[in-house]
Amino acid sequence: PTRHHRIAKPVDIFGDRKNADGLDLSQIATQTRLEGVIRALKPVTAVPCTASKVATQPPQNFLSPVDAAKVGQATDIKPEAANDIVATAFKAYPAWNRLGGHVRADILNRLANLVEDEMEHFIALMAREAGKTMADSIAEVREAVDFCRYYANHAKDYFGDAKIMPGPAGETNTLSMMGRGVFICISPWNFPLAIYLGQIAAALAAGNTVVAKPAEQTPLTAYVCAQLIYKAGVPKEAFQMVTGDGAVGGALVAAPHVAGVVFTGSTEVAQLINANLASKPGPFPVFIAETGGLNGMFVDTTALKEQIVDDVISSAFNAAGQRCSALRVLFLPEQTADDIVKTLKGAMDMLTIGDPGKISTDIGPVIDHAALGMLQDYIGTLPKSLRIIHQADVPDGYEGGTFMPPTLIQADNLNDINHEVFGPVLHVVRYKDKDLPRLMAEFASKGYGLTLGIHSRLEGFARRVQAAVPAGNIYINRNIIGAVVGVQPFGGRGLSGTGPKAGGPLYVARFGTEVTISNNI
Ligand code: SER
Repeated sequence: PTRHHRIAKPVDIFGDRKNADGLDLSQIATQTRLEGVIRALKPVTAVPCTASKVATQPPQNFLSPVDAAKVGQATDIKPEAANDIVATAFKAYPAWNRLGGHVRADILNRLANLVEDEMEHFIALMAREAGKTMADSIAEVREAVDFCRYYANHAKDYFGDAKIMPGPAGETNTLSMMGRGVFICISPWNFPLAIYLGQIAAALAAGNTVVAKPAEQTPLTAYVCAQLIYKAGVPKEAFQMVTGDGAVGGALVAAPHVAGVVFTGSTEVAQLINANLASKPGPFPVFIAETGGLNGMFVDTTALKEQIVDDVISSAFNAAGQRCSALRVLFLPEQTADDIVKTLKGAMDMLTIGDPGKISTDIGPVIDHAALGMLQDYIGTLPKSLRIIHQADVPDGYEGGTFMPPTLIQADNLNDINHEVFGPVLHVVRYKDKDLPRLMAEFASKGYGLTLGIHSRLEGFARRVQAAVPAGNIYINRNIIGAVVGVQPFGGRGLSGTGPKAGGPLYVARFGTEVTISNNI
């Protein structure tokens, strides 16, 4: 097996010095410097970012999933503070909306520059707070910056000048876009910077004021980013950030004057929010959700083994499998399955599991003890149709962290694979050609539709799989993670989300509303 998957695709911060496989000397030098930045990281103290003082819980320490050392402290709000915070945002809405798309675009572009300037601090913080590897963190900062710039363009294009529409002589018809009011942004811990900031940037771009609640597991990265949002010029009434658990999120969603909610997280929580919004009196709130996936990859006998294995390793185990895009079920033809599985096992054994603060690390810990416990329970109580066929080793010395060994599970059928297992756990299903249509239909009937991988050199095979298995993002002969803003707009169907796609041309528009004026003055 190759070690090609070791370092993620080269990214821009290395400028012209990057090479095709991302392993040149300047990159290594930069990453060695980053190791020092990570070691020198100072604790972060996160407090509510609200326009006036609110009721809070006692501060809590945050321990790193890597080694249980303290990363900082956060002070959550009490759920009963939610109504006042949303009321403040509601009062601030008209002024922020009136600024117009051009001014808001300038602010978001300034924010992008500020985030880029803080890149090393964010990389260090995400390594410690979320256990993210350097390669994942670098890509995440890049994505956060891209979101700001991409949505800034849409602030100008959609929310800048009114569009003149055709009409009869003497009458001027214009179509313009404006914000809706207050948006609640609820983001996940697996992208503590990119998804957090992407949601906020889109809501602000459209002219809404924002109350953001990052995941309770990652308040520190969110807090540091919030300071940059203010520094870029967003008034403190127009953007507020509070930390807390699901009760705080629920109280924010339930508060009066909520015009919309954008949520990334589990399908179950999205369904709860949807039900709560639907039962609220008053105008119809918008709900934008990006949820889980039960993502498959279908391989045929024409596909190249080394490429399959490389793409499977990164799709299933990168970020310790904690991406909603990650591969969960690999479908292999029985003719080549033994050979591919053998190579896959070898590649799993070559992964370096350990401290994400070191360049050599491929896979860090899972987010916390609860996540580790859930994964251990899952693989410890497998039904008869599923059995573990391989596990990588977590080296000694990481007992203080929440490390989960990458695990390969052979599945006899799909009966017991119904939900996303959010970690480095990959199921393999072997198929006979004659069974493929039935298997694809069964897999599709699980109801998810986020990412889908296809490995084949036959157009016909790729077309058959695409037609049978619904998905929002389909990747052919490559890995299925790491959608790039403006290149692979990202988001799913069915149980995987409501759309529109993050990093796509329709996203910001969904946060706004349209006004047509027929003027006969
Ligand atoms: N957008 C991420 C990816 O494509 C997942 O949230 O991997």
